[in-house]
Amino acid sequence: MLKLRRCLVVIGLLLFSTATVAQVNIYSSRKEALILPLLEQFTAHTGIQVKLLTGKDDALLRRLALEGMASPADILITTDAARLHRAKQMQLTQALDNGVLQEAIPVVWRDEDDHWFGVTSRARPIIYAPSRVRAEQLERYEDLANSQWRGRLCLRSSDNVYNQSLAASALIANGAEQTLSWMQGMVSNLAKPPAGGDTDQLKAVAAGICDVTLANTYYLARLQRSENIGDNAVAEQLAVFWPNQSDRGAHFNISGMALTKASKHKQHAIALMEYMVSDQAQRWYSDANNEYPVVEGVPMPDVLASYGQPKADAVSLTRLGEINQQVIKLMDQARWQ
Ligand SMILES: [Fe+2]
Repeated sequence: MLKLRRCLVVIGLLLFSTATVAQVNIYSSRKEALILPLLEQFTAHTGIQVKLLTGKDDALLRRLALEGMASPADILITTDAARLHRAKQMQLTQALDNGVLQEAIPVVWRDEDDHWFGVTSRARPIIYAPSRVRAEQLERYEDLANSQWRGRLCLRSSDNVYNQSLAASALIANGAEQTLSWMQGMVSNLAKPPAGGDTDQLKAVAAGICDVTLANTYYLARLQRSENIGDNAVAEQLAVFWPNQSDRGAHFNISGMALTKASKHKQHAIALMEYMVSDQAQRWYSDANNEYPVVEGVPMPDVLASYGQPKADAVSLTRLGEINQQVIKLMDQARWQ
């Protein structure tokens, strides 16, 4: 009898907690200011409270792995398909067969096994100094290995996933042998050893240390839209070139979200993930982050529209994640620091 009563008390507590706590917990590598207003809108619409923990992309994966099934996280928000694929391989995520997400997000921007979903897409074109480079001198990513760029190229280090994923798309298009010699050519063209993030490469081009680089367009847009006139001056020295327009297209990747394996508020988490692909959320989130909405028909931010409407490489992002380790080995072989 005592056992039964205890049991009833436990069940009562469980019912009480699920009935009163409408909550969802997010681990996000997005800076708080670039997502929090949207989450507040979601709470206003649904009454579901959102708790946000922000951190660096790879640190969040390590934290999720350490916490295991005890993790309070319901949703992981992070960047780059290769990193989301890593989270899937580490068994930190779970598949979500959801009609709203499948319908809203084109198949190229989500995982083939429904473990992760793009929220925005981002482009990684060539960015150059128009005062020293004519657009006619540029055509394909592959050409950055040519000797005309000797001492004129800046690249960030190979340990960053952005160049790894771009190189993965080249590997799929061209094979290992050509990709290795492409990397070797680029390394021998470097104006300085790889260091810093994308913004540092843009600043180096603007300062005349090098003439061309690879960077995601939101970094340029951020400098352009900055309230700091020094940033605006950097952006004025730069232009976007869309490579590979007569073949596979420019490299695009995503920022994305995944339902964690440990999720304890699955229903609320799904409601939030569905909200992220609503027209209103897509519009706000892409504008705040200077990225492309993934939902068709939602207009891109004006600053991105000013860069043109490129052809994007339609390679499977899942595949880029799968060959990530092979790419890192090639980068090491090419001595891309
Ligand atoms: Fe970034």
